[in-house]
Amino acid sequence: MDTIFQRRSVRKFLENKISEEDIKRILKAGMAAPSCKASCEWVFVVMRDRERFQKFLEVHPYATALKTADTVILVCADLNLEKEPGEGWWIQDCSAAMQNMLLEATDLSIGSLWLGVHPKQERIDFIKELCCLPDHVEPLGMVVLGTAAKEKSPIDRYLEDQVFYETYQGEE
Ligand SMILES: Cc1cc2nc3c(=O)[nH]c(=O)nc-3n(C[C@H](O)[C@H](O)[C@H](O)COP(=O)(O)O)c2cc1C
Repeated sequence: MDTIFQRRSVRKFLENKISEEDIKRILKAGMAAPSCKASCEWVFVVMRDRERFQKFLEVHPYATALKTADTVILVCADLNLEKEPGEGWWIQDCSAAMQNMLLEATDLSIGSLWLGVHPKQERIDFIKELCCLPDHVEPLGMVVLGTAAKEKSPIDRYLEDQVFYETYQGEE
């Protein structure tokens, strides 16, 4: 699938607005992800108010993309919806949702970036307060969206040395 290789992290965006329709498609793509026992425990906070999401710069040294972003979608888990409470599957479920959203954005020619929140406690605490998350809602990361200021080339990072067959030693 070409979209997988075309997806690149975008950290500078133009002033263009993303449509509500495209945001809905990106959310739908997130919710189409696989999840443990079909928990679908993800919840999303869509932020379009720059003043709000730029506050996150106070605690995140690598979040300069927020300066020009149009929209930020915070991907969280509602722990009350977990099918295996306490086992932590939500991290993988929400990561799958995040990646689906980045790919859908790429397919829509929208620039995107995965901004890490979990497991940095300072960022978690800050974002919980910023977005008024209750105790049972845990943030995983942010999907930053906008129109890319410049195009990046598709990437091929295939490394033969990091592939093993049958066992880590490879076949005898
Ligand atoms: C869990 C995770 C957290 C990330 N956090 C940040 C971040 O805080 N700031 C940032 O600029 N990029 C962040 N990235 C993006 C990576 O830096 C980027 O994916 C990597 O450099 C590879 O580049 P590419 O996405 O263009 O292929 C994150 C990616 C992942 C998967």
